[in-house]
Amino acid sequence: MDASRDSSGQWQPDSWQNRIVTQIPAYGDAARLQVVLRDLARLPPLVTSWEIEALKERLAAAQQGRAFVLQGGDCAETFDDCTSDSVVQKLKILLQMSVVIIAGLKRPVVRVGRMAGQYAKPRSEDREIRGGEALPSYRGDLVNRSPFTPEDREPDPALMLRGYERAALTLNFVRALIDGGFADLHHPENWDLAWVSHSPMAERYHEMVRKVTDGLDYFESLTGSKIHEARRVDFYASHEGLNLHYEQAQTRFLKHRTRWYDLTTHYPWIGARTSAPDGAHVEFFRGIANPIGVKIGPGTSAAALRELLQVLNPANEPGRLTLIHRLGATRIEEKLPEFIDVVRHAGAMVLWMCDPMHGNTEVTQSGLKTRRFDRILAELEAAARIHAAQGTHLGGVHLELTGEHVTECTGGARGLTDADLHAAYRTQVDPRLNYEQAMEVAMRIADRGARGG
Ligand code: PEP
Ligand code: CO
Repeated sequence: MDASRDSSGQWQPDSWQNRIVTQIPAYGDAARLQVVLRDLARLPPLVTSWEIEALKERLAAAQQGRAFVLQGGDCAETFDDCTSDSVVQKLKILLQMSVVIIAGLKRPVVRVGRMAGQYAKPRSEDREIRGGEALPSYRGDLVNRSPFTPEDREPDPALMLRGYERAALTLNFVRALIDGGFADLHHPENWDLAWVSHSPMAERYHEMVRKVTDGLDYFESLTGSKIHEARRVDFYASHEGLNLHYEQAQTRFLKHRTRWYDLTTHYPWIGARTSAPDGAHVEFFRGIANPIGVKIGPGTSAAALRELLQVLNPANEPGRLTLIHRLGATRIEEKLPEFIDVVRHAGAMVLWMCDPMHGNTEVTQSGLKTRRFDRILAELEAAARIHAAQGTHLGGVHLELTGEHVTECTGGARGLTDADLHAAYRTQVDPRLNYEQAMEVAMRIADRGARGG
């Protein structure tokens, strides 16, 4: 290993800046950047180390097959969409899905939103060309603005402060909803289940909902209290830790724990495009104590995975490292067993999570990005089957979804077609499961559990 790749060197919150930095814009006004980062660094943290450590324990349980992680939300949050309704809908769908999964898998579910900070996006091209004009690509609201003008596309450091504020507003509202009566949405009588009868699985789905209802009624009559009053619902935040300036500014050394924590979120992940073992992102992530995820895809070699395990979790700390495999329905059969082999030979403890979205993106004839519901299910099914056959646990699922009735992915019980996509296609980036499709995925996961898979 040459010196530039030596990860045993001294880690500092800014040591990533000595590595090859990808997917982070060059800010034109360096002085302004420093002013913003100083501001960000002195603002209160968005999350706390005790929440982070509690999550790590729950992830360790999921590693051992004693819990299941449901991670979901938008591909990219936008500042405009930081509204009461949007937060409510996202929380609602994740809560409802979690109840279905708990009933099917008979395991606790760890709920993690892709929210309160999912504002920065990797791009395959640095520049976007329209009508002969080339401008910097839009990289998410944390970095620049989407209208195609030179001013909007110029990376603006102040957007990091605006993102921090919106993340704080979102978390504040989520915490209040969870502390209040919102959790009553556990009850299937509050769910929107009209779609179920359109599915060939209708009978099984109805039976599942009956079981959930009976279970909750039984619990409540036995304890004399409502389920959400009896047990506090935990909810955690996550986002892709892409803009390392933002992450670094909120990274603090906590004396009582003698470790550094990234306090922008509980559970950041490294995206597929920034997962080079010797790159800036891996360097930053190796030094923070948070539980972290790393996306691994068809392009991840066995050697790279081996190095990631070593660099990101040298002490093999339980709950620390999640491998989020996003291979696509066609590649998973070949690649996942290879990954499992590498991890087994390394003796590494990881949480295995399946992202069935990012390996299954297609473009329709009319140029819209979409994903087919049956491909998403096929990848999930394959993941569960392969892990069971290999003696490893599929410990979670990572989804792009919204609680709203968008039309971005095709298929599902209502059989959305390419032609239907135009009706409510709202994503700026990747296509999300809508409310019904997301509930259907939860029911499939639960059904597999009920069948003992
Ligand atoms: C994402 O999660 O939105 C994303 C960009 O995924 P990946 O890094 O797996 O491509
Ligand atoms: Co995405």
